[in-house]
Amino acid sequence: MCGIIGIISTKEVTSRIVNSLKKLEYRGYDSAGIATLNGGNINEVKCEGRVDTLEKNIQKFSLRGEIGIGHVRWATHGRPSKANAHPHSSEQVSVVHNGIIENSTILKKHLEKKGYLFKSQTDTEVIAHLVTDYLKKNSLKDTIIKVLKKLHGSFALGILFKDREDLIVGARRGSPLAVGYGPNENYLGSDSYALKSMTNKISYLEDGEFCIIKKQEIEFYESEGKKINKKILNLSQGAISYDKGDYKYFMEKEIDEQPFTIQDCINEYVDKYNREINIHNFPWKISSLKSLVLIGCGTAFHSCLVAKYWFEKNTNLDVTVDIASEFRYRKVNFKKDCLYLFVSQSGETADTYAALDLCKKNKMKTCAVVNVVESSIARVADLVLPIYCGQEVGVASTKAFLGQMLVLYILTTKIAYHQKYITKKDYQSKIKNLLSLSNSTKKTLSSENNLINIGKVFANAKGSMFLGRGYSYPIALEGALKLKELAYVHAEGYPAGEMKHGPLALIEEGMPVVVLAPRDEHYKKTISNMQEVIARGAKVLLITNKNNDEIISENIWEQIAVDKFDDELTPFLITIPLQKLAFYSALEKGYDIDKPRNLAKSVTVE
Ligand code: F6R
Repeated sequence: MCGIIGIISTKEVTSRIVNSLKKLEYRGYDSAGIATLNGGNINEVKCEGRVDTLEKNIQKFSLRGEIGIGHVRWATHGRPSKANAHPHSSEQVSVVHNGIIENSTILKKHLEKKGYLFKSQTDTEVIAHLVTDYLKKNSLKDTIIKVLKKLHGSFALGILFKDREDLIVGARRGSPLAVGYGPNENYLGSDSYALKSMTNKISYLEDGEFCIIKKQEIEFYESEGKKINKKILNLSQGAISYDKGDYKYFMEKEIDEQPFTIQDCINEYVDKYNREINIHNFPWKISSLKSLVLIGCGTAFHSCLVAKYWFEKNTNLDVTVDIASEFRYRKVNFKKDCLYLFVSQSGETADTYAALDLCKKNKMKTCAVVNVVESSIARVADLVLPIYCGQEVGVASTKAFLGQMLVLYILTTKIAYHQKYITKKDYQSKIKNLLSLSNSTKKTLSSENNLINIGKVFANAKGSMFLGRGYSYPIALEGALKLKELAYVHAEGYPAGEMKHGPLALIEEGMPVVVLAPRDEHYKKTISNMQEVIARGAKVLLITNKNNDEIISENIWEQIAVDKFDDELTPFLITIPLQKLAFYSALEKGYDIDKPRNLAKSVTVE
């Protein structure tokens, strides 16, 4: 949430800051701003809205400078507006911030008493005035140490100083921050994507650390001001390119990419000749594991829910699934023989990171399933299993969801065989099915359907429901989440068998309801639940498998039948029509598909 960039160079930096902000826009897009230092002055341009608008404004003001900071915002304190856009500046300093300062109200009162005037409703402006105040009696370094101690909450900061055209300060607690190394210039960025066009050499700040970035060098410090050394990492180049190609929307491209991203991931983990799964680097004995806790947020949480069914069926592990923001604040009875597994596309989600950190502090065994391998979560976990799906740009997660499920299924299969809970024959047959998953996904994507028209009905509905049993229940949750976030339609995912315990009262004439009923062990029961909602007036879209017997079509509004496939892998296939349903519903409404309102791709606030 919120993106930060800073560049100090011997060349003009404005256009490069703008380009980096465009790459960071997935982190926040309600307002944007930039500040440069030139001739001893802080020059700011800010606007409500997107970086494109900022760029036009910058041209009007012909903003120049060889040192500057930029920001894209996802509002926390104060609505999106020009006044609340970052950077926030005092006479002396200019600040960009990602995170939340929890004690900003108290700090603001204290600063107002001292005569500081506030122009915005943000928590960030407090930092600008606090730094200004401390600078009166302290050196720059001592100011930073003291100010960081005063701040409660989470932050990644970039700070410019009016009288120091030779440096930018960066600091981190809770929110991610990277620095990049270039020739006669250096950079600060919320993530490596923002820096990739300028350098592939980066270091990451850890919690509590700060840095002073100059053209020729970067100094790193721990919270008390002791100098530290940092490892320089070489960035990996993602296999899938960042541009939209022939597509109008990233989301559409990312949905269509899924057969390829699945194949790439399988190529990394599955030895197709020996029918073996290549995960050999477990840092603990699998036989010592008795339980598993899967933790994530949003879509990643849904992938954990699907995995619970797989793990319970194929291993003897005791499995629980937790939402990271709940886990981190509960009293947890940590268990030595438990594996704590964290799922996150970005690897930067604040709640997931905090939950992982809690497990690490309690010396637990941890594993991370992530897309971004340079992320904070990947750097902290004992074992990292990447999903290899390339950068996901659309804010609504699609290919990463399938990637997360895929790695969790691969891990289940590996542990199941390792535990001798399944036979070698079963193990190899599961691997065989995995090897045809990409193809089945491709067929599902290319099969004819009426989703454009179905989407029109969902887009204009007052509300909708998504029902399923077994593996299809978490997929129903995911389908409902996609519709909510893209088409802004109220959608509830529910276990089909729970409807009669209350939610059935919501069903009224014409309400669109998705029923997920693949031909697995739950099929008949789900079909009965479907009839119960039809009897109460629901317009049912049934998603099932192709089959010739007892074809039910009476009273069903629309049907989509995907090929019959292995039951355990069917969640992958039935997710695809749900992704498309949300896409077409948003298209019908003319909403911003890649950047839905109020959201951001990387959720680095709690
Ligand atoms: C929904 C979506 C979010 C994320 C959630 C966790 O489409 O993308 O619900 O899944 O914010 O993000 P990561 O996976 O980056 O931890």
